[in-house]
Amino acid sequence: MTGKVYIVGAGPGGLDLITKKAERVLKEADVILYDELIGEDLKEFLKKTKAELVDVGKRAGRHKKRQEEINRLLVEYAKQGKKVVRLKGGDPFVFGRGGEEAEFLANHGIPFEIVPGVTSAIAVPAYAGIPITHRSFDPAVVFITGREARERLNWEALAKLNATIVILMGVSNLRRNVEKLLKHGKDPNTPVAIIEKGCTEEQRVTVAPLKDIADVAERVGVKAPAVIVIGDVVKLREKLAKFLRFD
Ligand SMILES: C[S@@+](CC[C@H](N)C(=O)[O-])C[C@H]1O[C@@H](n2cnc3c(N)ncnc32)[C@H](O)[C@@H]1O
Repeated sequence: MTGKVYIVGAGPGGLDLITKKAERVLKEADVILYDELIGEDLKEFLKKTKAELVDVGKRAGRHKKRQEEINRLLVEYAKQGKKVVRLKGGDPFVFGRGGEEAEFLANHGIPFEIVPGVTSAIAVPAYAGIPITHRSFDPAVVFITGREARERLNWEALAKLNATIVILMGVSNLRRNVEKLLKHGKDPNTPVAIIEKGCTEEQRVTVAPLKDIADVAERVGVKAPAVIVIGDVVKLREKLAKFLRFD
């Protein structure tokens, strides 16, 4: 009998931000395929389960081949009748290729279930004292990837939208993307926060106006993984951060 695949969100960092359902399916799993972005204490937790553990952490530049391999493994394990967990950082459907994996499973007639997770796009700013919406500021939020593969984003519309912009995978193209926003009229004094290793003890937050953020980020040596927030909500950090756990 064919098994089942659970595409599970691990949350953005520590074990305390994983859902109860995710914890339950991890404990029941026969095999767990996990990404490198899941936190260390979660990796320790995985070692205590009965499951076979498969590290499928992707490396930059090898995405395509690896993804095909992961898809194939999911189908193979399920066909062996196993309860398979595909564990991904944050939420599996937010820039996480969970959609592609679900599609592949559907194409192969493999039963699957999605277990949503706490996405870094919201939780990482929150842990840094930045609510991504607030009634006093922009009335919308836009989530974008900094590594837009096909250049389909309308930067002009984005610059004019009066929305908080949250960028994932945005460190390597920061300067280029900031220039696009400035070119299309985004206020150069809009505050920007870059939160590295959010929701962990190693969290670091760098704040500067849009016009300076690329230089500041370079100077302090900002590294991925980081969430970038562009918008006036960043101003709230000053008031809120002193009450927060990792500041
Ligand atoms: C491939 S995307 C996966 C996003 C994930 N599915 C989610 O919902 O959080 C990876 C990006 O998520 C962000 N990210 C994930 N965890 C993070 C963390 N703990 N701190 C900062 N950024 C994080 C970074 O922008 C990183 O480059």
